[in-house]
Amino acid sequence: MSNQSADNTQAPLLCRLIYKSNTCWDDLSNEMLVDLAKQSAENNQAMDVSGLLVLSGETFLQVLEGPSDAVNALYVKIIADPRHSSPRLLSFEPITSRQFSEWSMHVVDLYDLPIHHRGLLAAKYPMKEDYIEISDDSALNLSLLLDAKAICLSEAERDPLN
Ligand SMILES: Cc1cc2nc3c(=O)[nH]c(=O)nc-3n(C[C@H](O)[C@H](O)[C@H](O)COP(=O)(O)O)c2cc1C
Repeated sequence: MSNQSADNTQAPLLCRLIYKSNTCWDDLSNEMLVDLAKQSAENNQAMDVSGLLVLSGETFLQVLEGPSDAVNALYVKIIADPRHSSPRLLSFEPITSRQFSEWSMHVVDLYDLPIHHRGLLAAKYPMKEDYIEISDDSALNLSLLLDAKAICLSEAERDPLN
């Protein structure tokens, strides 16, 4: 007898994609980021995609998690967006569980974090002038994204209205 299951309704393969890019906004305002977060969260929820978008100086770092087809299609759409340039795929791998399931998309500018959190990140990650330098090291970037997530969650707990 074959080991293959007769059930064709298996859960889709989950994957995690991380990329970085350069911002193309001349004067990137908080409102623009809020609008991008809102639009992205709505779209991603419909596709069962979760993730986090970090801004550090003039660099975006984004993680997308979800069914691999959806993540792939979304990445193709995102990299065609004229609001950023020079996208660089850092990792795309299968996962067994999500690490950013808290948000369909959340956006955080690392420069806007409270000073003590910025200090902790500055001690742990390479800096370029006042900003954390987003390297091409995918493990380091996943660590930064997880630290940014932990900070956002702790801030939300401290100040639930914000
Ligand atoms: C840095 C960056 C990250 C983005 N992330 C997402 C995302 O996670 N989800 C999404 O739907 N759109 C994202 N977008 C916007 C898409 O490129 C695109 O404008 C949007 O999906 C179009 O949405 P629509 O099909 O509803 O018009 C991002 C854009 C930029 C510049």
